[in-house]
Amino acid sequence: MSQTILLLPGDGIGPEIVEETRKIMEWTVRQGLADLQFETGLIGGAAYDATGTPLPAETLTRAKTAAAVLLGAVGGPKWEPLDYSVRPERGLLGIRKELDLFCNLRPAMVYDQLADASTLKREVVSGIDIMVVRELTSDIYFGTPRGVETLPDGRKKGLNSMTYTTDEIERVARSAFEIARKRRGKVCSVDKANVLECTELWRQVVTALHQKEFSDLALSHMYVDNAAMQLIRNPRQFDVIVTGNIFGDILSDEASMLTGSIGMLPSASLGTRYALYEPIHGSAPDIAGQGVANPLATILSAAMMYRYSLNLPAVADRIEQAIVRVLDQGFRTPDIMQPGMKLVGTSAMGDAVLAALEG
Ligand code: IPM
Ligand code: MG
Repeated sequence: MSQTILLLPGDGIGPEIVEETRKIMEWTVRQGLADLQFETGLIGGAAYDATGTPLPAETLTRAKTAAAVLLGAVGGPKWEPLDYSVRPERGLLGIRKELDLFCNLRPAMVYDQLADASTLKREVVSGIDIMVVRELTSDIYFGTPRGVETLPDGRKKGLNSMTYTTDEIERVARSAFEIARKRRGKVCSVDKANVLECTELWRQVVTALHQKEFSDLALSHMYVDNAAMQLIRNPRQFDVIVTGNIFGDILSDEASMLTGSIGMLPSASLGTRYALYEPIHGSAPDIAGQGVANPLATILSAAMMYRYSLNLPAVADRIEQAIVRVLDQGFRTPDIMQPGMKLVGTSAMGDAVLAALEG
């Protein structure tokens, strides 16, 4: 029985990078390594243009019947004037929430070949291997009350609410501890417990769970401002970082720059029933349609899909190894270009990965 993969290219560079990833996934089917069929659906601005909503009901239904979802990116200046409720980003937040994808894995690894592409010194970033575990379905992203209200005197007031319940904290913390057990056994929980009650609760719940079920692991706590600083100062101290939705959004972008380019970082968003895979970067409207976007983060996201959803870790390994080979061979998209390397566009990079897989 073949498994269905729902492709949601979305906006900006999304269609280009998803297309390259599809080439790689189709190769695994041709080779008999996986039995997959592909469907394409609408999300984000593209969905809004076609249907008037950034998350059509059909997309959600198909996501729920698929074995996994691969998403490109959403958003762009074209849709910025829209009301908040129909912005492309609402499509992405909506699918995360509806599929209950509470556990977002964002691995930040430095490829030795790219260590000099980082804006930080090689000796600071070389060898880093960090897993950011970001909670993805709660926090200030979803908390109520929210909105902008007009006060009696005519001033306006914007309001968002940071909220976490004990069960929401506990389930993502449990995932982080389980992942750490298979890695170097260190978890750093990031909060702002000195100021925000919501994250004080976060710290208590993480600590209690650690004591109860994971006392064999090393748990530390860090305030988010310090974590932002430590990520730049000494990133090798981190193994697994677990944090809430907003802090995870910010820290994972920061962690990506350690690796040389945000164009290299994949992610997996996991719930108990469904899973979605996407690069952590956005739709990059400034370079959309030019064929220069780096497809590697999306291809690496597909590798995570083989590992976490399709139960084909050997295929995941092969794809990841092919990417290392392509970097060894000197292929570089503009975002990771360095002197002496071979500058290629999106589809040439996809072809190089295919050739490395075949070779
Ligand atoms: C991300 C993105 C999204 C987020 C946006 C596009 C809504 O920045 O996946 O990190 O804030 O979660
Ligand atoms: Mg982000």
